Amino acid sequence: MPSPHDTLAPLVSAAIATAFGDELRGADPVLRPSQFADLQANFALPLAKRLGMPPREVATRVLAALDLTGVCSGIEVSGPGFVNLTLDDSWIASSVQAVGADPMLGVTGDAPRVVVIDYSAPNVAKEMHVGHLRTTVVGDALARTLEHLGHRVIRQNHVGDWGTPFGMLVEHLVEVGEGSSEALVVETDPNAFYLAARTKFDAEGSFADRARARVVALQAGDPETLRLWGELVGLSKSYFNRIYAALEVTLTDTDLAGESTYNDALAGICEELEAKGIATISDGALCVFLPEFTGREGKPVPLIVRKSDGGYGYGTTDLATIKHRVEDLGADRVLYVVGAPQSLHFQMVFATARLAGWLPDTVEVVHVQIGNVLGDDRKILRTREGKALRLGALIEESVDAARAVLDEARPDLDPATRHTLAREIGVGAIKYADLSVAHDSEYVFDLARMVSLTGNTGPYLQYAAARVRSIFRSAGVEIEVPVGGAQRRIVVTEPAERALALALLEFGSVVRGVGAELEPHRLCGYLFDLAQTFSAFYEACPVLKAPDAETRESRLGLCATTFRVMEQGLALLGMATPAQM
Ligand code: ARG
Repeated sequence: MPSPHDTLAPLVSAAIATAFGDELRGADPVLRPSQFADLQANFALPLAKRLGMPPREVATRVLAALDLTGVCSGIEVSGPGFVNLTLDDSWIASSVQAVGADPMLGVTGDAPRVVVIDYSAPNVAKEMHVGHLRTTVVGDALARTLEHLGHRVIRQNHVGDWGTPFGMLVEHLVEVGEGSSEALVVETDPNAFYLAARTKFDAEGSFADRARARVVALQAGDPETLRLWGELVGLSKSYFNRIYAALEVTLTDTDLAGESTYNDALAGICEELEAKGIATISDGALCVFLPEFTGREGKPVPLIVRKSDGGYGYGTTDLATIKHRVEDLGADRVLYVVGAPQSLHFQMVFATARLAGWLPDTVEVVHVQIGNVLGDDRKILRTREGKALRLGALIEESVDAARAVLDEARPDLDPATRHTLAREIGVGAIKYADLSVAHDSEYVFDLARMVSLTGNTGPYLQYAAARVRSIFRSAGVEIEVPVGGAQRRIVVTEPAERALALALLEFGSVVRGVGAELEPHRLCGYLFDLAQTFSAFYEACPVLKAPDAETRESRLGLCATTFRVMEQGLALLGMATPAQM
């Protein structure tokens, strides 16, 4: 179901070619929304230069070749050569009716690709922080949207489950004893375990020695050490899964592909880089120097792939992820949904992988940069004592805040209903706050604002959707009656009906845009505008008390389509549409 823009653009392009010859075939009609008409085509000025002709004449000639019967009711040249296009009401009505009748609501799929999405990626035996929360939420929305567009999405949760701290952590596990409460704390408060291990490591020389010996045993593959390490990973997994369940994200254990899965590949990565002359030894370490990455005084910054002690690093593992994702998973597109501060790391990894031939030009890799979440003081959000924030507690706080808002707004609801709603709203509020801001911008975490029922918030959108549904409920009318069927034929006459219909026609291109540009905030902005356009419609156009049966059915059709677009839009963001609010 093409949007007005996508319907008109090829027609205007074709007319340009007809008027001025084949060399202008495919010329951009430069169509934009306008305050003077539905769309304004702005091709005449750029073409006038090329053709040596006054812009108005260019526009007039193109119009002579343009037949928009059935699509536009008004076409006129204005100003220096703008072409104002007004859509025909009946074209809008039949188009929006087709959207309403379409199970995909006008979202047309892309040519299917294999898309690998690396997201969430918390660290074993450490607390997930708000940064992990945001990559989890953004990654999940992208996964849902790309799947909806017909792609095969492979989720990869690159958890941090390897490295030198594990010597200390395993040794601490041995000391406190498997199954002890000090060990099981990893499931509920991983930082407490980490801190206890760290404190002992700093205070007791003998413990530090044992921890170092453990690292060696771990790297040598000592079975007992590996078993203990697996124990820690398992405890952390149950902690992560509790957070994922609370957030209702789509990640499961089958998506886990932690750093340790690449251990066997790392030596080969280094050998290949060295053999190809891409990596060289510098101060005992194996390094990749790329001319485009220089630090102060123009000195090249190395990507260290093997440290002088023989250990491998984060970068080596990430080179292995690319190789695996391209060669074994068959990725056409690889997304790394990771904090913005890691930008240089990924640029260097991608460039090295391209040089090594592991990343063909046909495969697109993107670092989807995640901006910091800030506290009131505009510093990275932490608790007052400066410790990392407990994510589980944060989610519960939001649910509690949502419950307080509900208690105030809907004291009539029974406790069980209020319980379910509070969860849907509280979790939705957190997700929406993360998603409605451009993923690479910082934002200030403000719980009171996030759970508010007014403004550009999750609860506002959920409320807007629930309100549309309640129109049907309160009138005892089915929402599911097929739009465009014998009953719900759409007619568009009032300006507010027209505005709502035009908004609904954009859903498909907005969702496609999110898939292409990887920007869920565009969908948020769209849904927010749609909710407001619907409010204006509902104020101006009585639905249940419409002047005649035909109008009433048409307006019910517009309401039902609005509800489905909102529900689907929220679902793509990973948000629930509450049954009532
Ligand atoms: N565990 C890392 C962190 O907490 C994020 C890993 C992101 N993914 C990757 N392939 N490097 O910062």
